Amino acid sequence: MSAFSANTFNSHDYSLYRPSYSTEFFQYIFQYLGLNEWKSESINILDVGSGPGTCILKIIPILKEVINNKETPLKKVKIFVSDLSNTMLNEAKINIDKVIRDSLESFEIEYIQSGGETIDLKINEQIDLIIAAECVHWLNSEKWLDCMHKLLKKDGVLAYWGYVDPVFTKIEGSDDKNRLKIANDEYNSFVYEEKGKLGEYWQQPGRSKLRALYKEVNEIALNNEGDKWYETIMCRRDPLIGEIETIFNNDGNSDGDNGKVSRFEFKDDVLKMEMRLTFEQLLNYMDTWSSSFKWNSSHEEKVSLLFGKKLEEKVGLKKSDDIVIEMKTVYLFTKKV
Ligand SMILES: C[S@@+](CC[C@H](N)C(=O)[O-])C[C@H]1O[C@@H](n2cnc3c(N)ncnc32)[C@H](O)[C@@H]1O
Repeated sequence: MSAFSANTFNSHDYSLYRPSYSTEFFQYIFQYLGLNEWKSESINILDVGSGPGTCILKIIPILKEVINNKETPLKKVKIFVSDLSNTMLNEAKINIDKVIRDSLESFEIEYIQSGGETIDLKINEQIDLIIAAECVHWLNSEKWLDCMHKLLKKDGVLAYWGYVDPVFTKIEGSDDKNRLKIANDEYNSFVYEEKGKLGEYWQQPGRSKLRALYKEVNEIALNNEGDKWYETIMCRRDPLIGEIETIFNNDGNSDGDNGKVSRFEFKDDVLKMEMRLTFEQLLNYMDTWSSSFKWNSSHEEKVSLLFGKKLEEKVGLKKSDDIVIEMKTVYLFTKKV
C-alpha cells in the first residue's frame, strides 16, 4: 500500500503544497487531442491516480470555455476520476464539487477507487483522453499500458507525465554558484544516499522508476509505435545536468497513416516546472512525499526540519530565504492506432 492510501495521510496539505501544472500545459494536451476542431457533442476523460483532483481542477475551466463557445458542438463532459486511495478521492470530490457547481448540466463525474492497471469502466473503447500525472511509477508499466489501450477509442490520447527532485537554480541575493552546488549535493545525499536518512523510506521500484524519468514505460510505448500507438512524443528535462531529451514521431504537417492533417507543434519547455518560493515552502512540499510521511510517523522530528537545519548549516539557507527551483520532468503523449 502506498502512503497516500493511509487514513492518516493529509490529503489537504498535499493539495496545498504540491506543485501544480500550468493551464498552458493542459491547453497543449488539448491541442494534441484536437479539441479545437472537436466534432462531437461529448467528450470522455479518465484521470488515473487523480490524487486530490490536481489535474481535473485545471481542466474543468478550459472545458467550460469550450462549452460556452457557441461555435463548438461540445456540450457534455464525462470525467472518470480514479485513484487507489479513498482518502485522495474524498478530497478530490470536495475540490471538484466546488468548481462544477455552476455547470452541473455539462459535467458528469464518476469516482472510481482502483489500481491503475485494473480500471474497469464497464465500457471499453469509449475514452477520448486519459491523463496520468505523477503516478505511473506506482504501476506495472506493461499491464497499465494494455489497460489504457483497451479503454481508449481509436485515435484517443494517452498523456502521462511526472516530475521529481527539485534542483536549486537560484538563491535570491546570492550569485555564488558553489552554494547551489552544495545545496544540490546535500539534497541528493540526504534524500537518497546518506544512511539513516530518507533513502530507505522510499517505496521501490516506484521511486527509481520516477528518478529514471519513466525510461521503462516510455520504451514500451515507443517500441509499440505504429503497432498500438502513433504520433508519440516524449520530452525529458534534467536541469541538474542541463539535459533535454526529445522524441517527436510527428512531422507536424504530414497526413500520416490516419489521413488526418496534424497541426501540432512540438514544445520542449511546456512542462518546465520552475518555481520561485521560500525555502520554508520547499520544506512543506517535502512533507507531502510518501517517504516523509513514513519517516514522520516513526520519528519525533519532521524530516523536513532536519533537512532545513542541514542546509542552514552547510549553505546558510534560512526558511524565509527566496529560492528558485526547477524539477526534473518527463512527459509522453501518444495516440491509439
Ligand atoms: C503523487 S500523487 C499524484 C496526484 C496527482 N495526479 C498530481 O499530479 O498531483 C500519486 C497518486 O497516485 C495514487 N496511486 C498510488 N498507487 C496507485 C496505483 N497502483 N493505482 C492508482 N493510483 C495509485 C496515489 O494514491 C496518489 O493519489
